[in-house]
Amino acid sequence: MKHYLEAFFTLSSPLPEESKEDLKNFFTQFDEKIQESRKDGEFSIDDWKIKNSQLSLTISSIDSVPPHVAILRIRKQMAEVIGKKYRVGLRGFEFKKYTIETELEQEPLEKFTLPLTSKLTFKEKDGKHSVVIEIDPKILEDFVEKGAIERIVRRVSDKISKQHYGAKKEHHDVLWYSGEKKLYTDKNPTQLMQKANWIQRTNYRNQWLLSPTITTLAEALKQIMIDHIYKPLGFDQMMIPKLVDWSIWLRSEHAEGIYQGGFEPYFVVQPKEPTPEYFEEIADYITITKTIPEEKLYEKITPPIGGLSYAQCPPFWAFLEGKTLAKESLPIKIYDWSGPTYRYEAGSAYGFERVDELHRIETLFIGSPEQTKEIGEKVRNNLRKIFEDVLDLEVRESRVMPWWLQQSAHESEVDVDDLVVGTIDWEAYMPYRGSREESEWLEIQNISIIGQKYPKGFSVKAEGNIELWSGCGGGSFERFLTAFISQKGLDTKNWSDKFMKYIDKLPEPIKFH
Ligand code: SER
Ligand code: ZN
Repeated sequence: MKHYLEAFFTLSSPLPEESKEDLKNFFTQFDEKIQESRKDGEFSIDDWKIKNSQLSLTISSIDSVPPHVAILRIRKQMAEVIGKKYRVGLRGFEFKKYTIETELEQEPLEKFTLPLTSKLTFKEKDGKHSVVIEIDPKILEDFVEKGAIERIVRRVSDKISKQHYGAKKEHHDVLWYSGEKKLYTDKNPTQLMQKANWIQRTNYRNQWLLSPTITTLAEALKQIMIDHIYKPLGFDQMMIPKLVDWSIWLRSEHAEGIYQGGFEPYFVVQPKEPTPEYFEEIADYITITKTIPEEKLYEKITPPIGGLSYAQCPPFWAFLEGKTLAKESLPIKIYDWSGPTYRYEAGSAYGFERVDELHRIETLFIGSPEQTKEIGEKVRNNLRKIFEDVLDLEVRESRVMPWWLQQSAHESEVDVDDLVVGTIDWEAYMPYRGSREESEWLEIQNISIIGQKYPKGFSVKAEGNIELWSGCGGGSFERFLTAFISQKGLDTKNWSDKFMKYIDKLPEPIKFH
């Protein structure tokens, strides 16, 4: 990798002439030290100059310490030299020009740009591909310090490899199958439930009103989960927040995958000023016209502060953020069904299996690697029992691309063949979609062992340095029921006794004339 940097430090006041000798020695030593430690590469401070309150530097390197790293070191070490002796401080640095040239494993299929760069030039010579990255000179010192330059370089090759392999690699291996079950219908379950007035579309995209009939079924399913998973395995219920600010999605890395094919959040904004005066004209307008002045309203709100809960568990982690867990509290086992989660489903109107406002139950566990794996295995067994035995569903378990990789921008951190860290989906056969072999089955639940990702992302530790892992699972009531009705239909005569045991009385649907 080749680097070339022109930059300058701003000094708190001009340096006296006699300081030049000290600076010369400093830079010579600095140069020599790097040359000694990185014998294979080349590093040189080509030039330095003091003019008024500016110290300009030109640094180049080939396969050695990159100049932006050097400049951070210089800032630290030189402050000592000139601060003590001449009482002059370094106010910070700015780039004038910074280029990085690096080889690429693959050629880019399409040109692209990146933030914080002013130009990317792709080159080819003797079949070898390379790129010259010109860093935007206005890049903030703070970003340089926190690794933005390294991430720019990595992002270039990540984007090229995405061009070659497509956005996400799909993985799908069936691990287990319930076998064929007795099916009572081949009709579209959404239409069946709509006709029976169990569910009704609202005016808003992919959102539904859930009648007392269907709500009773939701309650029954929840109770089944409690009796078969949460009670026997010692999980406690908790209410995780459903409004998620950026700080959470930055730590969970969801923010990096925003609308990149796995994370499609609803955004939340705030009023710029939450006062009657500020909104008076809006209120007047609505009162007079009975319409919403969208443009005017838009002027009075902030950019998004985050969004509505998407993957359910990330906001849980704010609870543990920066803390050290007592050994006696491990493992932590909780579940949450305290409110809907939201996904902006692109495309046209879908059925009840793909809703923007969904009611999910989240199962979350945290502990040592052994505890986490053990709980994950038990939850998996009990979920299988619920689907296969209690609900009598035709389902299969598949190993798939982990949800947190789908939802973040990354895709290569976990080897999905690894039998420990990864995600398993339960998928139900939907007869109305076609044959078992050719139709798409419906994902109704997942369970994952996530490893250290979340404890690390939210800086959570455990007493005695126990390594912390987490695991979680989610399933939506809408999906459970769509799958169930698509196999068993609406007639409760055809429903399993084990399920019916949880339904005292199914409320009669409200009838319309
Ligand atoms: N958080 C996981 C998901 O989004 C499990 O609920 O699928
Ligand atoms: Zn989760």
